[in-house]
Amino acid sequence: MESTEERLDDLRRRKAIAAAGGGAQRVDAQHAKGKLTARERLEMLLDEGTFQEIDSLVEHRCRDFGMDQNVIPGDGVVTGHGLINGRPVFCFAQDFTVYGGSLGEMHGLKICKVLDMAMKTGAPVIGLNDSGGARIQEGVASLGSYAEIFFRNVRASGIIPQISIIMGPCAGGAVYSPAITDFVIMVDKTAHMFITGPEVIKTVTNEEVSFEELGGASTHASLSGVTHFTASDDEDALELTRNLVSHLPQNNLETTPVKPTNDPSSRDCENLQNIVPDDSQKPYDVIDVISEIVDDGAFLEVQAEFAPNIVVGYGRLDGHTVGIVGNQPKVLAGCLDIDASVKAARFIRFCDAFNIPLLTMVDVPGFLPGANQEWGGIIRHGAKLLYAYSEATVPKLTVIMRKAYGGAYDVMCSKHIRGDYNIAWPTAQLAVMGADGAVQIIHRNRIKTATNPEQERGRLVEEYGELFANPYKAAALGYIDDVVEPRETRAKLCKALGMLLDKQEDRPARKHGNIPL
Ligand code: HXC
Repeated sequence: MESTEERLDDLRRRKAIAAAGGGAQRVDAQHAKGKLTARERLEMLLDEGTFQEIDSLVEHRCRDFGMDQNVIPGDGVVTGHGLINGRPVFCFAQDFTVYGGSLGEMHGLKICKVLDMAMKTGAPVIGLNDSGGARIQEGVASLGSYAEIFFRNVRASGIIPQISIIMGPCAGGAVYSPAITDFVIMVDKTAHMFITGPEVIKTVTNEEVSFEELGGASTHASLSGVTHFTASDDEDALELTRNLVSHLPQNNLETTPVKPTNDPSSRDCENLQNIVPDDSQKPYDVIDVISEIVDDGAFLEVQAEFAPNIVVGYGRLDGHTVGIVGNQPKVLAGCLDIDASVKAARFIRFCDAFNIPLLTMVDVPGFLPGANQEWGGIIRHGAKLLYAYSEATVPKLTVIMRKAYGGAYDVMCSKHIRGDYNIAWPTAQLAVMGADGAVQIIHRNRIKTATNPEQERGRLVEEYGELFANPYKAAALGYIDDVVEPRETRAKLCKALGMLLDKQEDRPARKHGNIPL
């Protein structure tokens, strides 16, 4: 019979084998690629010394292809929980040094256990992905575990925040777990995501495309919109994740903790008047406007490179996290197009699910005209934005800075779709369209038959402008709650948000709506 000391030695030996992963040589290879190991990553992600591992002694059950002779405890994924800024999170980190981080049956079930625990306790889940995909030796058992993960991701959607960090390969159906999660963060150059790789594409479609072009971080940040953030390296990705988590609540029944600030809620925003030009045709950067308004000028932009004609991200007002949506006049004049509508709609739905109030900064000339937009389905995609704003019951604040034309006026969190506090600056113009376009349509004949057509056009444009190129017609109808000086914006928003924090608003009970996907 073994003594207690011998049993302790045995335990320590087993844990040491698990901790060594795929061995020193593979760890060196991982470092040589500029990547940290799974355990190094978790240490960096979590508050110091808070990581508690579970399931380090789990082993695969595969007996084919000599796998019974190749058993590494932990099975290629490090799982457990820890704290970020003192708040609990669950996490898993795939270990590329063990079977290439490939996902076999038990590896997948370890991730499922973490997802189940996170749901039970109401804490966010953060997945660090670095994997060759389905473990080829395990066949359908691997696919089964993938689907178990996907199902849990869907069930957890809107209940706990889910974040995926892609820190290596993520190929084939494996991409669908990150795709379902709320945020994807990719590390530049080392992360790649695709359904089928360059070689298969070459065979099937004869297209030649590199790994990086096909599924690198910059492709998914700007072209596909799959990723929400691009990090320069592992450390940057983990730091970014900590910042992101600080803006989120633990689950759908909580709100984000208030972050105390020395930035007075009544602070005048003197610069706003200088940032936004008088001439409504002149562009400016809406991020400068947002930074002026939020606490300490701190704005965490989400999906910065995708559909940059709309800006979304997080800031704080008097310590409370708000999700901010702003038209970006310096790109496509801030028009709404397919990508902008989808990007903002998903962001709004996340905020609504997790009790994050919405602030909408409006300067929008309308939906982007064009055959490609129509054929691409701007009707159903634009409807997503309208749908998302209408179904959201979190506090909704709207500031109309300049243009709010046409359908875009309605869509951008207008009073009619239940904005709670809608204000405008004196420079706001709320109309079906700009004065030039309106006059061209309703006075075409009058201009044509005038003795001096250009003079007549100018007079009519001025007349239309006087009626609608201001916020007062809308104010008279109660469509906006107040017209304020730009410098008063922060103070007004902070007060309104304070009043709205306990807002209660219901929608009819139903299984779920039918958003035009
Ligand atoms: C088992 C795998 C593996 C896999 C890699 N390895 N991928 N083992 N199943 N899917 C092992 C390798 O045998 C090797 O083991 C170690 O991991 C490191 O792999 P390398 O090839 O040496 O590394 P590298 O050169 O960096 O290339 C990484 C790679 C490549 C690009 C990921 O390994 C690769 O193409 N792997 C196959 C990818 C793939 O086709 N997966 C299936 C996708 S379909 P040793 O012992 O030599 O260190 C899929 C479907 C999911 O995933 C469906 C979900 C519904």
